[in-house]
Amino acid sequence: MLRLCVSALALCACAGAAAGDFEPATCTRIADIPANYAIAYGAAIQGLFDDYATNGGSAGCVDCHFTPPPQPSGNLDLSPGLSWGHLVGVPSALDPTQVYVVPGHPELSLLFRKVNCDAPGVGGRMPLNGYGGGLLPEQQALIYDWIANGALPGTSNTVFRDGFEIRGFVP
Ligand code: HEC
Repeated sequence: MLRLCVSALALCACAGAAAGDFEPATCTRIADIPANYAIAYGAAIQGLFDDYATNGGSAGCVDCHFTPPPQPSGNLDLSPGLSWGHLVGVPSALDPTQVYVVPGHPELSLLFRKVNCDAPGVGGRMPLNGYGGGLLPEQQALIYDWIANGALPGTSNTVFRDGFEIRGFVP
């Protein structure tokens, strides 16, 4: 009984630490997926936002992250033509201490944590509740690579970054 109380207290202490609820252990392993060094934002990344469906149907982030009245889910509009400007270098609407995309740093980018981890530090994993079948590890890795390649609005063509890097949070 005493033990139960102590661990309940420990849990509370944890949850109380602001933005401290990011848990790397809840992230999907992408370390073994070959890196992609040439990514076109429009075709690849906006393509995912528009339709990533892995359940055989059709589903996109934009099904929720678009702008009808009153506002898009998470206050984040990922519509074509708007998404890049809403993501790169922009603080999260829900937790301004987090930035959606830090070019060159997927590990610091909330967008990547949101698609790769069950406990990303702000809200839950995207797509919400596995909508449309959720993202495959390869689709999560594509977002990682786009950010690692500099998060350009056009096409990145990086010859190499660092052949020995460990990708993702779970080595
Ligand atoms: C079924 C609706 C739905 C779908 C589909 C969806 N989202 Fe979300 N999204 C939400 C809601 C609701 C929130 C706010 C709650 C949360 O963060 O858990 C949110 C929050 C977010 C945030 C954080 C916003 C902030 O200000 O911190 C990001 C980033 C995000 N979503 C990205 C995505 C991406 C990328 C996809 C597609 C792979 C996606 N979402 C698919 C509903 C959805």
